[in-house]
Amino acid sequence: MAKLKVAVLISGRGSNLQSLIDACAAPDYPAEIIAVFSNDRSAAGLDRARAARIPTTAIDHHDYATREAFDEALSKAVRATDAELVCLAGFMRLVTETFVHDWRDRLINIHPSLLPAFGGLNTHARAIAAGVRFSGCTIHFVRAEMDAGPIIVQAVVPVLAEDTPDSLAARVLVAEHQAYPLAVRMIGEGRVRVVNEVAHIDGISSPHEVLMNPTGG
Ligand code: GRF
Repeated sequence: MAKLKVAVLISGRGSNLQSLIDACAAPDYPAEIIAVFSNDRSAAGLDRARAARIPTTAIDHHDYATREAFDEALSKAVRATDAELVCLAGFMRLVTETFVHDWRDRLINIHPSLLPAFGGLNTHARAIAAGVRFSGCTIHFVRAEMDAGPIIVQAVVPVLAEDTPDSLAARVLVAEHQAYPLAVRMIGEGRVRVVNEVAHIDGISSPHEVLMNPTGG
């Protein structure tokens, strides 16, 4: 079967991009990354893409007068590829309604908390301050509201008494690197449908398929 063509949008380090690149290296993985875009020319993740021989494009938002103009240019550039799915992976720009509309149900994001809790920035510090016992990450379809939209996969990690935002971020990141490739795999397998703003996964054999707990159990 033809592989799902994926564009990945980044702004920085690109470790989630790397997890997708690594997953795509497996012959039986149902997706391939055909393009990587960044709003920052110096994003380290662009080097990861180049190392994997994936075409890269930097579109600097500073070159555009408005968010709308930037988004339009970005959406046009992504549409010019054959991308069937767009993955935001540490893409630190809010996308506009037009962009979300252009890519509705073909645009996904990873967020480092168990949504709908702790959307937005400084998630780990806020999770620790709230005293939650678990945190994790969420891969979801993107909607115009920030960090909202039908949830595809979540991974759970414990929050430990001695955690700092950095130590919790590191634990969540390990989970992110497992969960994002899983979500893209399920979309590539054609198993994900959005009905009434809820993502349904066909052929789920156990809850662990969409609720990962990397510490086991
Ligand atoms: C990740 O924690 C992701 O969940 C968040 O930004 C971070 C990006 O990290 N949206 P990386 O660039 O993928 O290493």
